[in-house]
Amino acid sequence: MVIETEKLTKYYGSKIGCRDITISVGEGEIFGFLGPNGAGKSTFIKMLVGLLFPTSGRAYVLGKPLGDVEARKKIGYLPENFKYQDWMTGEDLLSFHASLYKLDKKKASAKKEEVLEIVKLKGHENYRIGTYSKGMQQRIGLACALLPDPDLLFLDEPTSALDPIGRKEVREIMTSLKSRGKTVLLNSHLLSEVEAVCDTAAIIKKGSIIKYGKMEDILESKLILEIHVEDLSSEILNKLIAFDSSLTCSSNSIQMEIKDRSAIHNVASIIVNGGGKLYELSPKRVSLENLFLNLIEGSEQK
Ligand SMILES: Nc1ncnc2c1ncn2[C@@H]1O[C@H](COP(=O)(O)OP(=O)(O)OP(=O)(O)O)[C@@H](O)[C@H]1O
Ligand SMILES: [Mg+2]
Repeated sequence: MVIETEKLTKYYGSKIGCRDITISVGEGEIFGFLGPNGAGKSTFIKMLVGLLFPTSGRAYVLGKPLGDVEARKKIGYLPENFKYQDWMTGEDLLSFHASLYKLDKKKASAKKEEVLEIVKLKGHENYRIGTYSKGMQQRIGLACALLPDPDLLFLDEPTSALDPIGRKEVREIMTSLKSRGKTVLLNSHLLSEVEAVCDTAAIIKKGSIIKYGKMEDILESKLILEIHVEDLSSEILNKLIAFDSSLTCSSNSIQMEIKDRSAIHNVASIIVNGGGKLYELSPKRVSLENLFLNLIEGSEQK
């Protein structure tokens, strides 16, 4: 496993940062960490990159315990809300980061060229960062994170300042890293982006994980069934209401929610065995955004 955490917990004094986070991320995976503002996503990443000490729990990154210097050389990190020195040029910043990664001169120079091409800032490197647009600043930050050709890349909201083209480019960077067996942990509020790119995800709220699993399974944890049926008796309807008490029914169509695919067969049996004429039964996934809102707002009401 590239990341393995066991009940990783951080308190800021008596205030919770994140609590009992247990996840594992395998090689070549893109892992999405989602949650509302203040949920604990950045706190979790900061512990994994060594910027914060956990209050309790354990974690291994690239097979090494937290803080291991060799492992850190293979980690790239784009922090959220970073602010670089305005007077530095892009080139200065990259050289500074190359020196932090202890790249030798020849390698540093080749890597700087490469990452500038990747983030599409070639030709802007000799301008001061103070003159860069927000999106360009995010791009130069990403370039720094890519400098060591990291085996593991942490991206804390990498596309918040980017235009749609920039967002697509970052998605492509992530998938190209994945195709080379690299691993990415992504914090993002852009759920369509997470849905498109992540293999696995965890949803965290008030410091704790409330949903965790493969993206496929998370998306299938709620399905909407659209049913076209004739000769619908009240007996059939009552049995269907037992699956979803908030189902909607108008003339010959029913829309209802089910928890997993196995219920599709049960619903069909209830209709057919009850003498209904089933013409259509189509399961539809809800978007990650919809699922997220449901989960977060749902747990709020409890
Ligand atoms: N240095 C700190 N001192 C005290 N509390 C902190 C500190 N950093 C974060 N917190 C608290 O920890 C909790 C989690 O914050 P964190 O920054 O990890 O959230 P987040 O999920 O990254 O949110 P966002 O989506 O807004 O970036 C919040 O309640 C926050 O106020
Ligand atoms: Mg954050």
